[in-house]
Amino acid sequence: MTEKDFLPSEYSSSKNKGVVRWKSPSNIALIKYWGKKQHQIPANPSISFTLDSSATDTTVSYRKLDGESAGFSQAAETHGFDLFFEGELKNDFRPKIETFFKRVEKYLPFLRGYHFKIETSNSFPHSSGIASSASGMSALALCLMSMEREFVPKMDDHFFNKKASFLARLGSGSACRSIEGPLVQWGNHSYIEGSSDLYGIPYPYRIHDVFQNFQDTILLVDEGQKQVSSTVGHDLMHGHPFAELRFGQAHTHLSDFRSVLADGNLEEFIKIVESEALTLHAMMMTSHPYFILMKPNTLEIINKIWAFREASKANVCFTLDAGANVHVLYPENEKNTVYEFIKSELLQFCENGKHLCDRTGLGAKEFKT
Ligand code: PMV
Repeated sequence: MTEKDFLPSEYSSSKNKGVVRWKSPSNIALIKYWGKKQHQIPANPSISFTLDSSATDTTVSYRKLDGESAGFSQAAETHGFDLFFEGELKNDFRPKIETFFKRVEKYLPFLRGYHFKIETSNSFPHSSGIASSASGMSALALCLMSMEREFVPKMDDHFFNKKASFLARLGSGSACRSIEGPLVQWGNHSYIEGSSDLYGIPYPYRIHDVFQNFQDTILLVDEGQKQVSSTVGHDLMHGHPFAELRFGQAHTHLSDFRSVLADGNLEEFIKIVESEALTLHAMMMTSHPYFILMKPNTLEIINKIWAFREASKANVCFTLDAGANVHVLYPENEKNTVYEFIKSELLQFCENGKHLCDRTGLGAKEFKT
């Protein structure tokens, strides 16, 4: 499919007002997206676990503008919307939503004809250092798709999910991997049939049962704002001395993942996942300007995990986002021993012992309003 396939033809019906609501999860990349081209096109393919309980709940109430205001809105620089975050009007989130609306209006031409009230909240604590852009942008994209489906009633679920992912990508790249689950792949890759730079797809090959309910305990090492945003980080991959090698490595890791995922080969899974996490941070440390997002406690946790794994032979490993927090990954059937280890040895390195217990999930859910 190309961008053109997401341009709608004439809408067959219209609605004066309505309400749509979606809850969409966050995701954690196993093979990382780091570096992008124009229009949120990834420099390399990635794959992630969709999470279950770390999610954003978004309700969009829409009201048709009368002829005159709609005309005004067509001409205006901005779109008509109010944004409430956890019950409060949040004007500082407006620019991000405005940029998103501008990027997607070509694909959702009804946007200018309505006023929107967007009410959103996260299941995870605000400023926990958990990125909310993946869950937030995917929830909003899904709400807009539910609206579009009202105008194109014969739209099937397959197209609905693809276009939701396509739109979410324009809000925040990794958001396109939050629509479905438990494993979503995004970015062209030679062996993955149906893979695309434009949207995420449910991983199309065999996935061993062990990955159907994988645990992710998120250790909140640093709850502060990141010093370097991911937008800046992606940008620093332009002209990065190791960029091409890194992009090639992601392709190779994704090829190697096929048998790992099919056979449930946890030893190889751990090697690839940890290598990806450290490579992501190595790219940050070797860009110009260079920066470090890990904290001393991030390294303490990594070393503890390695020592515990060596001693216990547990299949536990870590991955990192673009921040200091650590995602501890392990199979469900090792939950008791690993969680005991986390409590006794790792929580001391978290801010006030804070952590979130999550696991792989099946994607976003609609609430019928
Ligand atoms: O979606 P963005 O632009 O916030 O970038 C996310 C980048 C990483 O989280 C570091 C990796 C990934 O693939 O999710």
